[in-house]
Amino acid sequence: MASATLLKSSFLPKKSEWGAARQLTAPRPVTVSVVVRASAYADELVKTAKTIASPGRGILAMDESNATCGKRLASIGLENTEANRQAYRTLLVTAPGLGNYISGAILFEETLYQSAVDGRRIVDILTEQGIVPGIKVDKGLVPLAGSNDESWCQGLDGLAAREAAYYQQGARFAKWRTVVSIPNGPSELAVKEAAWGLARYAAISQDNGLVPIVEPEILLDGEHGIERTFEVAQKVWAETFYAMAENNVMFEGILLKPSMVTPGAEAKDRATPEQVAEYTLKLLHRRIPPSVPGIMFLSGGQSEVEATQNLNAMNQGPNPWHVSFSYARALQNTCLKTWGGVPENVKAAQDALLLRAKANSLAQLGKYTSDGEAAEAKEGMFVKNYSY
Ligand code: 13P
Repeated sequence: MASATLLKSSFLPKKSEWGAARQLTAPRPVTVSVVVRASAYADELVKTAKTIASPGRGILAMDESNATCGKRLASIGLENTEANRQAYRTLLVTAPGLGNYISGAILFEETLYQSAVDGRRIVDILTEQGIVPGIKVDKGLVPLAGSNDESWCQGLDGLAAREAAYYQQGARFAKWRTVVSIPNGPSELAVKEAAWGLARYAAISQDNGLVPIVEPEILLDGEHGIERTFEVAQKVWAETFYAMAENNVMFEGILLKPSMVTPGAEAKDRATPEQVAEYTLKLLHRRIPPSVPGIMFLSGGQSEVEATQNLNAMNQGPNPWHVSFSYARALQNTCLKTWGGVPENVKAAQDALLLRAKANSLAQLGKYTSDGEAAEAKEGMFVKNYSY
C-alpha cells in the first residue's frame, strides 16, 4: 500500500496537470506522402486480372521447376530430359478446347521460351487457345535464419529486369509462392518476411505489366484442427494486405492464390466440403477487399475430387470475388499417369486433363457433382515439406 502511494505521488502527474502532460506528449502531425506514380500498365493489369477471373474458368499451374518436373517424370519412369519435359508440356497446352475451362497457365521460365514438339511457341499455342500465359518468378525457398526451422522465398534481386523480359516474351501475369508452416510456429518473423516479400514482388510485377498472383501457401503439414488453420490464415492475410498497402499495390490488379482452410493433413478429424467452404469464405470476408478480382485456390495435396468438391461448395452462393482454382496436382495427376510417356496415350491423357478442367469449371459455377468420379481421383496427394 505504501509503495503504491509512493508510485502514485512520485511518477504520475497530478490531476490538475493532466492537460499540460497531454500537451507535452501529444504527437506532432506526421506528413505522409500518399502520391505515388501509378503503374503505366494500370488499365491493362485490371483487364488481364478480369480475363483470368472469368466465369467458369481458372488457372492451370504447370510451372513445376525442372527439379519438380523431374520428380513427376520419374513417377512414370521417364528421365528428366528437356525433350521429355517438352513432350509433356506440349500434351498439356494442346489439349483441344482447353481454353473453355482454363483462362491462364503458369509456366516455368524454360517453358516460356520453349517450343512445342511441332515447333510452334508454347506461348503462341496458349494465346490461340484463349489462355493467358503467366510465369513463376520466385527463386524458391531457403532456410530463414533466426526462425524455427522456417523458410523464406528468394527472387527479388533482378526481378524487375527479368519481368520486363518476360512481358516481352508474352507473359501477362506472374506467380510467387512462399510458404508458412503451422507445426513450426509460424513465427512472427516468418509471417512478416513472407508478407513483405510478396508485397515487394507484387509492386515490382505491377510496375512491369504483370498481374501478380500472391501466394502465401499455408502448408497442409501438421495434426492441427481447422480452427488453428483459420487463426493462422487470418494473421497471414492481415500481414500480407498491410504490406501490400504499404507498397502501394493496386488491389484491383492482383490475384490471390490461398490455401483452403482445412485441418492439417495428419489431423484426426477431417472436414466436409461444407465446413471447408464455411471457414474459407469466412476468412476471405474478414481479410480480402472486394476489389480483388479473383481468388484462385491451390490444391496443396488434396485429392483431385476433394479440391473440386471444396471449390464447388464455396460457389453455392454469390461471392464478391471470382472464386476459382489454380491447381497443379489436382489438374495434372490422372493426366500424367494416363500418359505414362507413351505417345499413343496422348489423346487419353488430354481427355483426363479436360475432364478435371471441366469438373473445376463446373465447380467455379457451383454446378459440380462428384457422381461417376474414378476412385484414383479421390486419392490424396499430400507430400510432407512439398517444394515446387
Ligand atoms: P498445387 O495445386 O499442386 O498445390 O500447386 C500449387 C502451386 O503453387 C502451383 O503453382
